[in-house]
Amino acid sequence: MRITVVGGGYVGLVSAACFADTGHFVTIVDTDPVKVDMINSKKPPIYEKGLLDILKRTVGKNLSASTEYESVTDSDISLICVGTPPGEDGSANLEYIRAAASSIGTIIGKTTGRYHVVAVKSTVPPGTTENIVKPYVLKSSKKTDDDIGFVMNPEFLREGLAVYDFMNPDRIVIGSKSRKAADIAEKLYSGIKGEILHTETTAAEMIKYTSNAFLATKISFSNEIGNICKILGIDVYDVMKGVGMDHRISPFFLNAGAGFGGSCFPKDVSALVSLAKSKGINPVLLNSVLDVNENQPLKMVEILEKRTGPLKNKKIAVLGLAFKDNTDDIRDSRSIPVICALLKKGAQVSAYDPMATNTMRKVYPDVEYCSSSSDALCDADGCLIMTEWPEFSELNDEFNLMKSKVIIEGRRILSINEREGICW
Ligand code: UDX
Ligand code: UDX
Repeated sequence: MRITVVGGGYVGLVSAACFADTGHFVTIVDTDPVKVDMINSKKPPIYEKGLLDILKRTVGKNLSASTEYESVTDSDISLICVGTPPGEDGSANLEYIRAAASSIGTIIGKTTGRYHVVAVKSTVPPGTTENIVKPYVLKSSKKTDDDIGFVMNPEFLREGLAVYDFMNPDRIVIGSKSRKAADIAEKLYSGIKGEILHTETTAAEMIKYTSNAFLATKISFSNEIGNICKILGIDVYDVMKGVGMDHRISPFFLNAGAGFGGSCFPKDVSALVSLAKSKGINPVLLNSVLDVNENQPLKMVEILEKRTGPLKNKKIAVLGLAFKDNTDDIRDSRSIPVICALLKKGAQVSAYDPMATNTMRKVYPDVEYCSSSSDALCDADGCLIMTEWPEFSELNDEFNLMKSKVIIEGRRILSINEREGICW
């Protein structure tokens, strides 16, 4: 098939690359010329395992990028993968979705006789595809839904593992009111094994939100149990290992720690809360998931201060700045509230992350950024471990560089005894 992917970010670029790698002819449209040039030069603008190899195989053959929408003319399907960042009130900002829908419709309006499918892959509140994307496309194209089909096809990609997740899906959800459009969308995945689930459009939108909200709930639940276990002197990892052996629960996403970050969980749970409230429903549980997550990283600072005494003028090493290992993405990273709290208490922060240092420096310039864990630990009065980078789990003698070995783990990775965990 001929595919246009609008938005070459974490989701759009990986989706486009994988579709090209399975034989489709794909054009990425992105408003950022720098990103477009990087992709056309086979240089991934983001780090994703396996992505560089795919770009080397496909760019110049059946994958290209452009800032223009012209490729929609010859495409069978256009995928909208633009960002849906949270607004002030937590609701999803859909301005980029509207802009993409209008731009796609404008090009479709200039073509004749070709049935075209518009598919939304971005995470959008239930009702967006039918009530926003469809009207915007039909209006700007001056066509009817006899000529254009609409589908919602959510993504379930973890950052750092997005290529793997795309090529090995647990399920492929295709939401549409039109069987014709759904059948065309299904052909996107002809080269990928995965159970296909056909649903209504709004159900597909809700499956995405609910999946992320449930995963986030598992994490906040584990953190609340972890906070209780810590007081009782019980190792929450022993507890969750036993709990996770129940096949109805599964062992995944039960790791207690400093909480969840990233561009999805916080944003999607907030959007669901905002949507519920707009319909007059008080989402008590979802609000609690966010409350636990807001408080959790601050426990790191509380535990630290109990051990070091007042943090004013103390040097504290923060290891791990991105929202998790194997990514440079700091969106909603749990390290951000931790660094804020340390700076507010007058501590001197020395920070290190194998990938995210430069990204964080742009947000927090008045922090000392180090080029290694050892540099950050040198003469430190305390250390906070915030992500599960494998290199952190190997740290041992480096801790002897510290003035005092107060080591608090926000992720369970160290093998040394002197460490204390946020929930263990
Ligand atoms: C986004 C949403 O954030 C996520 O919730 C959804 O599941 C998938 O799409 P992501 O790929 O991380 O995820 O977004 P981002 O990394 O912000 O990339 C969006 C891309 O779209 C950027 O490259 C941006 O330049 C581009 N864009 C944005 C356009 O091409 N046109 C626009 O009008 C707006
Ligand atoms: C998540 C979902 O997993 C993915 O399906 C969806 O499409 C996008 O959002 P992502 O945000 O990239 O993916 O990362 P993920 O690996 O899920 O971790 C999210 C956050 O939860 C991280 O901050 C991680 O440290 C934290 N986490 C994860 C826990 O605290 N405990 C766990 O057990 C698992």
